[in-house]
Amino acid sequence: MSDPTRISVGQGSDSAYDVLIGFGLLGELPGLLGSGVERVLIIHPRSLRTTGEALCDGLGAQGFSAFIAEVPDGEEAKSAGTAAYLWGVLGRCALTRSDAIVGMGGGTVTDLAGFVAATWLRGVAVVQVPTSMLAMVDAAVGGKTGINTAEGKNLVGAFHPPAGVVCDLAMLETLPAIEWVSGMAEVIKCGFIADPVILDLVQAHPQSVRGWHGPVVRELIERSILVKARVVTADLKESSLREILNYGHTFAHAIEQVESYSWRHGAAVSVGMVYAAELARLAGRLDDAVVDRHRSILAGVGLPTTYRSGRWPELYAAMRRDKKSRGSLLRFVVLDDLARPGRLEGPDEPMLKAAYARVCRD
Ligand SMILES: NC(=O)c1ccc[n+]([C@@H]2O[C@H](COP(=O)([O-])OP(=O)(O)OC[C@H]3O[C@@H](n4cnc5c(N)ncnc54)[C@H](O)[C@@H]3O)[C@@H](O)[C@H]2O)c1
Repeated sequence: MSDPTRISVGQGSDSAYDVLIGFGLLGELPGLLGSGVERVLIIHPRSLRTTGEALCDGLGAQGFSAFIAEVPDGEEAKSAGTAAYLWGVLGRCALTRSDAIVGMGGGTVTDLAGFVAATWLRGVAVVQVPTSMLAMVDAAVGGKTGINTAEGKNLVGAFHPPAGVVCDLAMLETLPAIEWVSGMAEVIKCGFIADPVILDLVQAHPQSVRGWHGPVVRELIERSILVKARVVTADLKESSLREILNYGHTFAHAIEQVESYSWRHGAAVSVGMVYAAELARLAGRLDDAVVDRHRSILAGVGLPTTYRSGRWPELYAAMRRDKKSRGSLLRFVVLDDLARPGRLEGPDEPMLKAAYARVCRD
């Protein structure tokens, strides 16, 4: 085990917690569970069954009554049905208010485990063990939890900060390449909105950002978590500052809807950031060099920067339904420069359509 890096989130509030980052960190878990915990339910996806079982055995050997519950891989896990199944498991395990849940998996599992922890007995502790790049740099940090309904993604949820987050980078070894690349979109987003060193690192080491064990990857993950931790600490309940984390997401959510969620989130965010950059250029707020840098960095790690043409009516309708819209006014996070995020309120449809034309590939 290497020395973990420790990043604090929410200092000064009742719900402060630490994010640990390093290799071979699962041994740190008991320390984050808290002193009164006797029973622990570990929630993991099917693809991480062996790791889930090993974690359960490890906690059992340390005197905890540890249980595991397997959930489906991917978005299928984030359903009311799976949450109800887990409430049943919690009841049978007799998990009390002083016990804890561990959410080990990608963002779908950390969202689900957090939501179940928020609702069981009106709130029990959850320690998140994110295993995908996206979950480490985004989903597991910040306290937003939730499940999907037939009407849309993340429509039911709660703010429930974790008791701690363990980012064991060794977990990334088995992460499929497509998930790796998807997670890089959120890393690059952190670079554009707050920490341009991230962009320099990605551009200087295009190959090493694809491998899980390199020092560059650790630094990228630490820097991205720091960006999220700072924003979340300053804005614990998502009022205004936290909106900057949605850079690229308005157009991305529209793509995801139009594509019936067959696109990976990061791929959609990648095109969404190019769209937001083009909007900012059209609004006279962002210069050509920064817009072009979006395309070169994102394409350099294998992310898409274009979308198909002929979909404007559906995309526009989806953006108008976006949670971040206020009434009929569309709002976008845009950049005025690197690390200078701002807001573009109510751009007219011709401008929105012109930005779309610039991300169309045919
Ligand atoms: N709460 C938040 O603030 C927040 C922020 C961003 C995203 N999210 C949510 O996160 C979810 C996306 O997360 P994701 O991209 O991690 O997807 P995911 O959880 O579906 O994981 C992707 C796939 O990789 C598998 N996997 C994960 N880690 C693995 C590993 N180490 N080895 C092998 N396979 C592994 C998963 O089982 C799954 O099949 C979405 O539901 C999104 O809404 C939440």
